[in-house]
Amino acid sequence: MVDNSGFGKKLLAWYRENGRELPWRGSRDPYIVWVSEIILQQTRVAQGWDYFLRFTERFPDVAVLAGAAEDEVLRYWQGLGYYSRARNMHRAAQEIIEKFGGVFPTNYRDVLSLKGIGEYTAAAICSFCFDLPCAVVDGNVYRVLSRVFGVDTPIDSTEGKRFFRELAGELLDREHPGDYNQAIMDFGALQCMPGLPECTSCPLQEQCVARAEGRVRQLPVKQGKTTVFTRYFHYLHIHCNGEILLHRRGAKDIWQNLYEFPLLETPEETEPETLLAGEAFGRLFAGASGLKIGRISLPMKHQLSHRLLRVRFYEIETETLPSGLNGFLRVPEAQTGHYALPRIITLYLENR
Ligand code: ADE
Ligand code: SF4
Repeated sequence: MVDNSGFGKKLLAWYRENGRELPWRGSRDPYIVWVSEIILQQTRVAQGWDYFLRFTERFPDVAVLAGAAEDEVLRYWQGLGYYSRARNMHRAAQEIIEKFGGVFPTNYRDVLSLKGIGEYTAAAICSFCFDLPCAVVDGNVYRVLSRVFGVDTPIDSTEGKRFFRELAGELLDREHPGDYNQAIMDFGALQCMPGLPECTSCPLQEQCVARAEGRVRQLPVKQGKTTVFTRYFHYLHIHCNGEILLHRRGAKDIWQNLYEFPLLETPEETEPETLLAGEAFGRLFAGASGLKIGRISLPMKHQLSHRLLRVRFYEIETETLPSGLNGFLRVPEAQTGHYALPRIITLYLENR
């Protein structure tokens, strides 16, 4: 048994404040939940939204979907890709008509028996719509649980799958299984994200083992096939009155103890306009005067053993150092070379 001191309660409290408003949220109609979950297996919420609205407007219930021509169903799926998902939904709707008298089944086993509905989708439908105590286990759940409980069993191993399924089941709030499941997924999407989790504002930070041990970046573990994953670095080469800013890297990550410029990391490719308009950038520079954004490099590729880095450098001038930049070392520009820097930074300095 793990110490889950208030995990579910904290998660639900977080969800009530921070949960997303989505067009299918709060629906207890299994058809609506089913369509939304299948769409979300295909795409992100932002893009899925329009598909969901168009799809459910044209096919508002099981009977309409079952009666439609497959071609038309596929047309409404166009652009989402993975057409077998749409075909399976169409067939499952017909199964519901034929085997269940047109009524969406209300127990886990029958829901799971439908074409294209796996454990995740069945658990979502049964908990959201029928209050059944079925814990969902998706990528968000693996990430949140592996971090909070510090579990490094690979999530793609048989042992890991079993372990996380059981842990998720133990943690499930049996009185509010639907809210609890949506809470942990939203929490994984909005707070405990893959690239840069928001640990400083996190209600679980005190019990989070990964945070205490500096292992947030290492979790969850995947054994995979040497999956080389990409990290996106945005280095800020900040000039202020003849000085630049540096920072010494910690011991838990790549480039242990080397120096670098202030760094923003994003979980995915991020264009300069987005980065500069973003919250993380705003926090660093709030209150700066005479701020000028200079040259921005093209993304440079840098291969490490298990990572591909995509690195951009931003030249920035500021007349004053705002408090967001207090934590950095101020170094006379001419002395930059006295510090041990990663190769990618020296390459940039040599070529800029
Ligand atoms: N991702 C996929 N389905 C979701 C849901 N129902 N709530 C939050 N995130 C999700
Ligand atoms: Fe995730 Fe950070 Fe919160 Fe831990 S402290 S649960 S890693 S956001």
